[in-house]
Amino acid sequence: MFTSPLRPARRMATVGLSEIVMVSEAAAALKAAGRDIISLGTGEPDFPTPPHVIEAAHAAARVGETKYTATQGTLALRRAIATACERENGYAATPAEIIVSTGAKQVIFNALFATLDAGDEVIIPAPYWTSYSDMVTVCGGIAKIIPTSGADGFRLGAPALAEAITPRTRWLLLNSPGNPSGAVLSAADQASLADVLRAHPHVAVLSDEIYQHICYVPFTSFRAVAPDLADRTLIANGVSKFASMTGWRLGWGIGPAALIKTMVEAQGQITSGASSISQAAAIAALLGPQDYIAPRREAFRARRDLVATALVATGRLNCPLPDGAFYLYVDCTPCLGLTTPTGRKIASDADFCTQLLAQEGVAVVPGRAFGLPGHFRLSYAYDEASLARACAAITRFCASLT
Ligand SMILES: Cc1ncc(COP(=O)(O)O)c(C=O)c1O
Repeated sequence: MFTSPLRPARRMATVGLSEIVMVSEAAAALKAAGRDIISLGTGEPDFPTPPHVIEAAHAAARVGETKYTATQGTLALRRAIATACERENGYAATPAEIIVSTGAKQVIFNALFATLDAGDEVIIPAPYWTSYSDMVTVCGGIAKIIPTSGADGFRLGAPALAEAITPRTRWLLLNSPGNPSGAVLSAADQASLADVLRAHPHVAVLSDEIYQHICYVPFTSFRAVAPDLADRTLIANGVSKFASMTGWRLGWGIGPAALIKTMVEAQGQITSGASSISQAAAIAALLGPQDYIAPRREAFRARRDLVATALVATGRLNCPLPDGAFYLYVDCTPCLGLTTPTGRKIASDADFCTQLLAQEGVAVVPGRAFGLPGHFRLSYAYDEASLARACAAITRFCASLT
């Protein structure tokens, strides 16, 4: 039997374009066709990269920092990461305990790729960032999804964690502040999870702290809460969100030197070192002026309040007020079973999103993409005028359902 030489590998069977990308593309297609579209689908700050960071990139290029760097990242950047980490999180890390990658995303991929064997399990609380489960699957692992609920502020509790652990569990994946929920695990929340892990020495923790600086309550790194677990804790972080540097593709991992070494070996066969220019720029982002961060955080908080208030006022949407990141994870179950003016039944969160886009031109991402249906994710990292227009459109849409 003929099979195409270009057929996808079996490991691609469950991987496709993420729903977030598909929503953005659907919105872009409507926009190209002349529709007035407000896309609240993607998760990146609307603020520009700070000028001192851009200047550092120019300077690096001018002095010839344009060659391959060490796969693990330049020593200068790893030292800057250690300095910033000690300043902000209160713990020290050596350059050997740090890997620089092409975004925090690659840090997470490297870790899973470098450690998972077929059938190994990774515990992921839902709702989760869509890439987590796909990355686990691509790396041969099994994503064990634990649902959380809006009533609990979308926070994983210790009993649910204890119940999910099996002899095959390799990692617990935490993300605080979280995408898509915006939920923040307090120091006490994390301490109770750490207690569970102390009884299970075969389980490591990957704590994705990429939204650390977009947090409206005190932020605590998992590693600071449980220093005794440092030998099985990997922290993922980066410049994408706090310094508005999504396109520079620069993140880092902090973990035990032996794990970092294996991740560097993996990265050496995937991308080698991150961009030399982005690494120079990241040093400026970490060691240069930090005074733009707080006003941007306050702007995000004001936008959160604006949008959450408007959505709850529809009477048909619920959302707990999140403590961080720049997303609302909105419960649209009160709209399920209703019908649009054009006779379309809203049977799922995906129907809600499709009809909202068709009727009012507002793009948001269905909750099924994040492992907890009945919701949609809205990013409020947009200017207030667009957000106000979007809220008015969502209010009209909800009111039109019968
Ligand atoms: C929770 C989470 N982790 C990691 C990333 C990726 O970060 P980076 O741009 O550094 O790869 C994102 C981006 O949306 C995210 O939401």
